[in-house]
Amino acid sequence: MLDQQKILSCVDSVPSLSPTVTKIIQIANDSTASANELIQVIKLDPVLTAKILKMINSVYYGMPQQVVSLARAVVLLGINTVKNLALSTAVLGNFKKKGKIGEFNMNLFWEHCLGCAVGSKLLAKSKKVNKLLLEEYFIAGLLHDIGKLALVQFACEEYAKVMIAMEGEAGANELCIEEAVLGTNHAKVGEMIAGKWRLPAPLRESILEHHHPKATGAALNISAAVYIANINCHRKNFGMSYSGSCEYDPLILEKMNFSEAELDTVFLPLEDEIQLARFFLEAA
Ligand SMILES: [Fe+2]
Ligand SMILES: [Fe+2]
Repeated sequence: MLDQQKILSCVDSVPSLSPTVTKIIQIANDSTASANELIQVIKLDPVLTAKILKMINSVYYGMPQQVVSLARAVVLLGINTVKNLALSTAVLGNFKKKGKIGEFNMNLFWEHCLGCAVGSKLLAKSKKVNKLLLEEYFIAGLLHDIGKLALVQFACEEYAKVMIAMEGEAGANELCIEEAVLGTNHAKVGEMIAGKWRLPAPLRESILEHHHPKATGAALNISAAVYIANINCHRKNFGMSYSGSCEYDPLILEKMNFSEAELDTVFLPLEDEIQLARFFLEAA
């Protein structure tokens, strides 16, 4: 069992985001901030600038011509996308991305996260969510299990016990096992990290709620999209394998106005889209 002190030190061990990225988040959250302010801050960090331009010019965004300046990128993709690209590179750069830690397979973990990112964005598109907000769904999917990474890396002995317990119990509830073994769970730890990084409120919320979203009304909130995308990845055995239940909560589907058949249609392009989005895992 992890005591409160150990949980806090686990969160403390996660590296802070750079001052540039912290400032970018601040600007993007400020409705009165201008695109120019955002560009000026990013420009202070030439490595980040180069990475963002590389991501924008990847096949995922399908730009008709090469984008060579941040100003053009903001015009074409909006402040929000550029902010989320900066955030993605910064966050991905803070964690080990390849190989294994004990029995925990990083490659499969990130494949799962990418599947959730793409899936959650497909769900948002199907609900005709405002184009400018689509990247919010993507990044929420990418980061939803970030708490797991902190536990695997900074409380590895204890997390190994969770993995053993999961293997021993078919259909086990992951969060319940984590609570029993660790006294906390990866969603709570993830929310603490999101707080430390001062991530925007909807993102923090979706990290905390991705296994139990508060579905309020027919609007597809980010937590509910990540919840559905997460289960879909487990159902299709995409990325990290999972021994827990892969059933959707019918109440959530009903509130979101989705039938299982509709979800299958929404997720049809998933694998092709994931291929296009793979560069996210190489970023940073
Ligand atoms: Fe999770
Ligand atoms: Fe997940």
